[in-house]
Amino acid sequence: MSLRCDHTPQWPQLQAAFSAQGRALDLRQAFAQDHQRFAHFSQSAPHVFADLSKNLWDRSTEALLLDMAQATGLAQHRDAMLGGQPINSTEGRAVLHTLLRRPAGLSLPGDSSSLAGHLADVHATLDAMLAYADTVRADDAITDIVNIGIGGSDLGPHMAVLALEQFRAHGKRLHFVSNVDGHELYTALQSLRPQNTLFLIASKTFTTAETMTNAASALAWFEQQGGRDVGRHFAALTTNVEAARALGITTTFGFWDWVGGRYSLWSAIGLPVAIAIGSAGFRDLLAGAHAMDEHFRTAPFAQNLPVRLGLLDVWYRNFHGFTSRCIAPYHAALRRLPAYLQQLEMESNGKRVARDGTPLALATSPVLWGEPGTNGQHAFFQMLHQGTDVLPLELIAVRQATHPLKGHHEKLLANALAQAQALMVGKEGEDGHRHFPGNRPSTFLLLDALTPASLGALIALQEHRVFVSGSLWGINSFDQWGVELGKVLAKDIEARLASGDAAGLDGSTAGLLGRLRSGA
Ligand code: F6P
Repeated sequence: MSLRCDHTPQWPQLQAAFSAQGRALDLRQAFAQDHQRFAHFSQSAPHVFADLSKNLWDRSTEALLLDMAQATGLAQHRDAMLGGQPINSTEGRAVLHTLLRRPAGLSLPGDSSSLAGHLADVHATLDAMLAYADTVRADDAITDIVNIGIGGSDLGPHMAVLALEQFRAHGKRLHFVSNVDGHELYTALQSLRPQNTLFLIASKTFTTAETMTNAASALAWFEQQGGRDVGRHFAALTTNVEAARALGITTTFGFWDWVGGRYSLWSAIGLPVAIAIGSAGFRDLLAGAHAMDEHFRTAPFAQNLPVRLGLLDVWYRNFHGFTSRCIAPYHAALRRLPAYLQQLEMESNGKRVARDGTPLALATSPVLWGEPGTNGQHAFFQMLHQGTDVLPLELIAVRQATHPLKGHHEKLLANALAQAQALMVGKEGEDGHRHFPGNRPSTFLLLDALTPASLGALIALQEHRVFVSGSLWGINSFDQWGVELGKVLAKDIEARLASGDAAGLDGSTAGLLGRLRSGA
């Protein structure tokens, strides 16, 4: 029922449009010719205002892209996801992170009998988890919370705790340990006392080597330091509650296999966020995300922000051939957002085969990267302005400051606007070195204030735009088989590092193994 974007009748039309005028589109001329360009290519969505007008497309291209989206069956695919159908085909699972932020009692889309049961489970767990979070907040003896988890069990909560730091409870320090490199855990442990520490062991599977290694070391440290009562000082956030219990952790908050790791911020994995900002704040985060879910579900495609962003992503990747997207949050509290978005986009859409397993003939996920503005300006923006590659930039700014310091926020916002402007308008230079070609694209996302609700909406927006491009490309955005091989080989090499056995290894791996063992 769904058609890949490159199999639609609009695809050759888009190719022709790109060759005829798309490739040569000049943004400065486009604005001069179309005085309504900003009005047309900007829009409001819940908590987010978006300006897409400084991108290398015009109304006719966008109209073709919108037609193409309809032809692929994007709306049906979206509804299948929201309705709980097993669209994660390689794992035979539904994809229901949207249910985690759905208010209790709200009627459900489609055939809702199984969803109603899931929603009841979601709210029972959410209520228990938030009651626990508020208990921890009220417990003055707990001063340090250490989240041990990696990937989706780290990036989302870590990003959100930093983003919402101005809402954070006083007297609570949050630490995030993800890397198996003992440097990270060891450094964190130096400042901790067992009687004042709560460890959250966050792992969907409770099998991830990094997290299991760090959890075992944290438990050992706790006992060595004379810690008592693992039930009070450790909690597990996982779909595999039995494995947590087997480790002696009795305080557990569960979730379900229909929540992907990189989509799990809204589940029990969000507990560090709930401890940081409180249950009311966490409910606001969910409400903001739900508002964006409703926008994605109901807005016509031409005014549907995740759809428009996803279409732009396809246009850039498959027609302009842009290989990356730079993320520049113009708010220091959003400093982990680029890392979070990297997993969201690249683990979801970094795929080379279609849903049926056959190789694709088109490019998929771009590379995502970035740093907060204005820091990035003094590092890699040189390349954005004058490098040989065109790298679309996504700026994320916040209208209201989160501090009282005079003059700073005006400068910050001025820099965000100026960078996008400079990229587009360019400047004639007296020589090649001083010449700015301009016509370089950017998207500007604007929040009114950085709050739990606006953060929830911003993240849900990004989730859905990744869904849109993945759906158009005809890939399964919800599996991650590409991470498996390295995990298996690491186990084999770990044994070889101990034994020195290099038999059957390639020359480079054997050489490096020998080098690492020299002196052993
Ligand atoms: O290795 C990739 C991955 O499976 C991610 O998809 C996931 O977010 C991360 O590992 C952590 O997994 P878990 O939460 O099961 O420990």
